[in-house]
Parts: sequence; structure tokens; C-alpha cells
Amino acid sequence: MRVVTPDNAGMDEAARLLKTGGLVAVPTETVYGLAADAFNAEAVARIYATKGRPADNPLILHVADKSDLDKLTDHLPDYARTLADRFWPGPLTLVVRKKPDILPWLGGHPGNTVKTVGVRMPNHPVTLAIIKRSGSIIAAPSANKAGTPSPTQAEHITNDYKDTAQSPDLLVDGGTLEVGIESTVVDATGDKPVILRPGAITEEMIREAVGAAVIGKAANAETPPLSPGTKYRHYAPLAPMTLLSGTAEAVASFITTQIVSEVDAHIGVLASPRVLACINKNWPVMAVQSDSSYTPVVTFLPLGDPHNLPDIARNLFANLRRFDEKGVDIILAEALPAEGLGVAIMDRMTKAAEGRFIRLGVTG
Ligand code: TXA
Ligand code: MG
Repeated sequence: MRVVTPDNAGMDEAARLLKTGGLVAVPTETVYGLAADAFNAEAVARIYATKGRPADNPLILHVADKSDLDKLTDHLPDYARTLADRFWPGPLTLVVRKKPDILPWLGGHPGNTVKTVGVRMPNHPVTLAIIKRSGSIIAAPSANKAGTPSPTQAEHITNDYKDTAQSPDLLVDGGTLEVGIESTVVDATGDKPVILRPGAITEEMIREAVGAAVIGKAANAETPPLSPGTKYRHYAPLAPMTLLSGTAEAVASFITTQIVSEVDAHIGVLASPRVLACINKNWPVMAVQSDSSYTPVVTFLPLGDPHNLPDIARNLFANLRRFDEKGVDIILAEALPAEGLGVAIMDRMTKAAEGRFIRLGVTG
């Protein structure tokens, strides 16, 4: 896999490769995507093989022009056009009814035809330029190998594919990305928008734009998931992660106790500056509680300030990957209020923690 900078020559090479059936990892404002020409069935099949993605999990399309939506669907509800006008280019994917006679291979393999298609116009100048120069529409899932978190830095991709039989042909290094978590996926096939995956375009923003009730997550244990990606086991760090909610003091004292009692474990801590400050105050207490011959092994990573949720989202996946690199045995992570962008952040953190959640200091 060659790595290029996003200059003119790099963008030209990326477009040329896409035109000839190549696979190119490209930056978007959310996460890096693994792109191929959507109209080239073999190139699309290579995305599945390279990523190790289950065949029934469809890919989303990336367009460089809003009007391309009409090439893909004959059934666009008014609210969907409003959402595209309002939020494109941006981190919003619209799942629309696909024209029946196009792109049968997007569901993964011949015969597994999908009647809908997810479409978005990414807000990244490099990838918009690459799509335009390729003269087509690109299919692109997140560029991570299946089972690792979505890549938000070029080195996440070089790490994922360093020992693999198949890898992308080219990586366009766009540096660190603005949003850091994947786009909001909205089902736009019914009379009202339904959020299938939360993201940086929040439920409040959608409701404000279309003035309609947002139904929210429709899939539950009884009904099949509308967004196939939601049924797979999501990325979890190698070490079991537990989310902790409560006051900064309660979270800090729980973490301190764990550090003292889990003497043989390398503990990873993902917490805000306030909680980290409280843990610091606890260190003298710890020294007394712990055996003097024992030095705790702890990796502290900054979650970011809960008042700056965009900053937390931007760094989240890089932090999770860092814990794997450090080889921690246990991860303790501070939970955030599920409000605004916090809904999407907590969605990803809950998946990483496989549901482990401890509420501290709640009485009654
Ligand atoms: O921000 C993003 O959306 C990134 C960047 C690269 O654009 N892409 C991304 O793609 O996250 P992917 O494939 O990792 O996730 C797309 C999600 C999956 O959960 C998939 O199941 C769902 O969207 N999806 C795709 N097509 C769908 C469809 N026709 N109906 C329902 N869900 C769909
Ligand atoms: Mg993905």
C-alpha cells in the first residue's frame, strides 16, 4: 500500500486508481473510508475481501454532488431532500430506496440484492476532489479491518493492513479528521426519518431541520435490524472495558480502588481532566493502602473535557487503539451524559464496553 499526501499528484493518482478498479483509502470528515468505484462490481467485491466484511452488510455511497442522489433513487421523501440540502456536505448518510435496476452488488455478492442504498456527500475537500476527478460515485465503508475501530489517522490504516494478504492500493493521508466518529445514518424510506446510527448530526438537529418527530431507533431484539451493521459484534478493545458514571469524585475513587486492588493488572484509564485530578489527589491514600513493594502499572489517557464533546469524539477511536498498543489488561472509562453529540459518543463507547456499565453513588 502506497501512502501519498493529498496534493494534486496524490489526488490524481487516487482518481486514476479508482477509474481502473483500484482500492483507495481516503480521508473524510468522519473517519477514513475504503473507496472503490461503485459501478465496478469487481472493485466493490475487493472491498469486502480486503476488509473482511460480512457479505450481507451493504456499503454506503459517497457523492460529490447533491444532484447525484437522483441518479440513485426515484423515491426521495421531501424531508430527505431537506436533510440533504441542510447537512450535505456533512456527516449524514441517507438510506433511500434504490432504483431497482442499478448496483445489484452493493449488498455484497450477486443475488444478495439490496432494495435500499445509503448515500452521503462527505465534507472533505480532498475526497470531494477525488470523487469528481474519478468521474463516478464511490462506495466506501470505514477503512478499518473488520474488528478494529474506524480509522481517524493514516497510521491506523497502515497498522491494520501491515500483515494482511490483501490491502488497499493507495492511502491518501489527510491527517487527523475533524469529527472522528462515523456519520449519522438515517432511514429515509418511510414517512418519517428514523435514526439507525447516531452521529454528529444529532436527533435535535434533524428534528429542527424537518420539523417532524424523529422515530429514533426502530430495530430491537424482536425486529431484524434495519441497519445490518448494527447486528455484528462491534469493535471492542482487546482488554475488557467498563464504563463508569457518577460524580467526578465517585468515578475517581472507584478507579483508585481498582488500581490498588488489581495488583497484577495493567489498568487503562480513560477519563476527563476533573476525574484525573481527583485520582491524583488520591495517590497518597493509595500509597498507604498498597503494599510498599508494589508500583501500580496504569496508562492514563485523556478522554477530553465533557464540555467539549467534539474534541472527545475526535480522539475516541485513537484512544481505544492506544490501549491495545499499550497492552492494558482492563480499561476503566468515564461515561458521559447521552445528550447531543454525547448520544453518538456513548453509542460507540457502549459497544466498545460490550454493555459493561457501572453507575456509582446512586442511592435508592
Ligand atoms: O462516516 C461514515 O459513514 C463512514 C465514512 C467512510 O463515510 N463510513 C462508514 O461506513 O461508517 P460503514 O460501512 O462502516 O458503516 C455504514 C453503516 C453500517 O452500519 C451499514 O450496515 C449501514 O450503514 N448501511 C449501509 N447501507 C445500508 C442500507 N442500505 N440500509 C441500512 N443500513 C445501511
Ligand atoms: Mg465501519
